[in-house]
Amino acid sequence: MAHRKVDFLVIGSGISGLSFALKAAKLGNVLILTKSNEDESNTKYAQGGVAAVVDKSDSFDKHIADTEVAGDGLCHPQIVENVVKEAPERIRELIDYGTNFDKVDDEHYDLAREGGHSKHRILHYKDITGYEIERALLEQVHAHPNIEILTHYFAIDLITQHHQGVHVDKSTPDIKCYGIYALDTRTNKIETFLSRVTLMASGGAGHVYASTTNPTIATGDGIAMVYRAKGKVRNMEFIQFHPTALYNPTDSPAFLISEAVRGFGGVLRRVNGESFMEEYDTRGDLASRDIVARAIDNEMKKSGLEFVYLDITHRKKSDIIAHFPNIYEKCLSIGLDMTKDYIPVTPAAHYLCGGIMVDEVGRTSIQNLYACGECSSTGLHGANRLASNSLLEAVVYAHRIFEDAKAVFGSIVHADDIPDWDESKVQLLNEEILVTHNLKETQKLMSDYVGIVRSDFRLDRAIRRLGFLYEETEEFYRNTKLSVKLCELRNVIQVAYLIVKSAMQRKESRGLHYTTDYPDKSASLQDTVL
Ligand code: FAD
Ligand code: SIN
Repeated sequence: MAHRKVDFLVIGSGISGLSFALKAAKLGNVLILTKSNEDESNTKYAQGGVAAVVDKSDSFDKHIADTEVAGDGLCHPQIVENVVKEAPERIRELIDYGTNFDKVDDEHYDLAREGGHSKHRILHYKDITGYEIERALLEQVHAHPNIEILTHYFAIDLITQHHQGVHVDKSTPDIKCYGIYALDTRTNKIETFLSRVTLMASGGAGHVYASTTNPTIATGDGIAMVYRAKGKVRNMEFIQFHPTALYNPTDSPAFLISEAVRGFGGVLRRVNGESFMEEYDTRGDLASRDIVARAIDNEMKKSGLEFVYLDITHRKKSDIIAHFPNIYEKCLSIGLDMTKDYIPVTPAAHYLCGGIMVDEVGRTSIQNLYACGECSSTGLHGANRLASNSLLEAVVYAHRIFEDAKAVFGSIVHADDIPDWDESKVQLLNEEILVTHNLKETQKLMSDYVGIVRSDFRLDRAIRRLGFLYEETEEFYRNTKLSVKLCELRNVIQVAYLIVKSAMQRKESRGLHYTTDYPDKSASLQDTVL
């Protein structure tokens, strides 16, 4: 089959992939591969907004300090400073692309507040900020003659020297990425895409857990691909559980009740109506996410119930509806009027703070491969991401990667001896139930043993069970014709393994990693690199 050659190959069409594509298209042709519809991404569901210092009463120093306090000692200070200081320019760019953010008057934005922020600094569009950003970016991308998007193309694996028959292991200093093998999910054919520069912008991994706010695309594919290609990943133990997903057992994914509701005065309450966050942190309901999620987990364990309440009923009805129209409608659809009723909420897996290790310009440990957004680990989030810093990190790094790629891409040549994907020895799997069952089992064991509170005993159990699921799934993979579900299962198991392995290496409790065996912070600060 003919190989397709492009200058820039982008995996993913969320904020990271689209932002980079719009910039790279100034230099050469760009092909975006995305596994579902073009807008399906974590980005589309972002509610609260984007954090940036755009008001005179705020300062870079305050945003930096809030990010570092939330990150619990593990943020990389230079990276935090870069991202915070470059934020206003990147926000202006989003606005120039046509993104609307709510305003209070012609000159001032309606800035919201979320947990861990000492100031109101979140730019938002009602409670559907991500939807608005995705809309604006896609409109720009459609209008650009140098960008093509192929939807329903599932990236399976990076192409490296390994595919030229060269032995590659972790000690190989110059592993190179030549492109991607991807499955056209409409024809079921595996195609070869060769590129000078590849950007991994494949998002998060919420579906490693049974309950998550992430849409079903979030299966950690990019991280698994990079690890399989012997690239480095970092800080995978730091899984952020959002404290307030709507408790509605029939919803999957879980619907998010934005932290901006607490920023707007929302109070967490026990079922008897008592507020409780002041017993856990002086910042009360606006403490950082790791602390609030752990407090709720503790309250649920004490009460034996699967939720606590979030109360915003003291705010004016018209103000609640104006700020949170999407959340209001969702609650109404299940018979709750949030202007009068308490909302039952429960924590759900939300964000991966670690990921593919990148340097200050987004380069991975594999040559010609960059990573951006939720799949990457830049050093910004440390042990716990500050709310609304994720969309921000994506746009700042899309720009940084563009600047770096601009300087080098002209000297990178396409590989010319890459074989087609070999499917000659495989058969059709006629029992999809095996895949579904193994996925459910992985998600359940991760939720049960590797959730908000961990222990050596639970991590040991998890890794043993994962070992078995890994063997069984690899066997399917080697012998059966590939499907998206099988590839996703393989990636989920790989990422689950990386999370557990990293958690086992961290012999302390810090940020989002809390273990009953080592409840204190260690004196030394260390990233976990696998
Ligand atoms: P994504 O937007 O997830 O895009 C990933 C893309 O990669 C998708 O197009 C996907 O289909 C594609 N893809 C994945 N695997 C493959 C593959 N194998 N082959 C081809 N394509 C693939 N952050 C904030 O800063 N502020 C917020 O208010 C906020 N609210 C949130 C609310 C919710 C409900 C959720 C789930 C997240 C929220 N976040 C928020 C986090 C933030 O939305 C994400 O971290 C961010 O949007 C990630 O952007 P991304 O481009 O890196 O990944
Ligand atoms: C939210 O709106 O609560 C999500 C914000 C985030 O994840 O940054």
